[in-house]
Amino acid sequence: MRQHVNPLSKNFDEFERIPPLIDMFGDSQLNLHLDVGCAAGDFLFDLALANNNWNYLGIEIRERLVKTAKLKVLKKEIKNLYFVFGNANNILNNFQSKFITKNVKSISFNFPDPWFKKRHHKRRVIQPKFINILSNSMQKGSLIFIKTDVKDLFEYMDYTLSNNFNFKKINTKDFNYSESFNPNKLQTTREKYVALNKLDIFESIYIKI
Ligand SMILES: C[S@@+](CC[C@H](N)C(=O)[O-])C[C@H]1O[C@@H](n2cnc3c(N)ncnc32)[C@H](O)[C@@H]1O
Repeated sequence: MRQHVNPLSKNFDEFERIPPLIDMFGDSQLNLHLDVGCAAGDFLFDLALANNNWNYLGIEIRERLVKTAKLKVLKKEIKNLYFVFGNANNILNNFQSKFITKNVKSISFNFPDPWFKKRHHKRRVIQPKFINILSNSMQKGSLIFIKTDVKDLFEYMDYTLSNNFNFKKINTKDFNYSESFNPNKLQTTREKYVALNKLDIFESIYIKI
């Protein structure tokens, strides 16, 4: 399976429409967390099974991974987890998805594709326009989490979020994870690899003000 797909390809102009919350989750009133670029969803399966007081939604651009994850949700009868296929930028920029950005308590961008070459930076999932759209519809107090092992990418994402006046950076050391979407600080697939290889992790949290 291809590791990197170009999110700007015309193939992703069309995307799956996100169903209403009541069709996605057993209890649509629970706090909602969105993970962008969730790959096969292992992290979200772990979270959903550990925290039945949260709903988890994953968006992933590799269709085969999403199909497999959806089948696994059905087979395991998990009611607080849902996957959507497509380019997160296109999906969340669309007015039909406004209810998601309005309802999320938090969004995570875990180890996004770095797109190292300068001419490919426009393929990075975090873009100023995208962050602006999120900032306009997310509720005050909702959070964005970013995490990566690529320093340059971290600096770029941090710069983009810090330049948006609707978000304020939180010191991760002061952050109380116990009430967050990830109270047990479970690790993503990439994070496990990075930890095993003792690579640096750069992370930050931003609150909508
Ligand atoms: C390096 S992987 C990290 C996966 C996972 N978050 C982790 O931490 O293990 C980045 C993932 O983001 C997905 N992705 C990249 N651009 C995306 C986009 N615009 N919308 C949705 N998913 C995207 C990729 O297909 C890939 O699965």
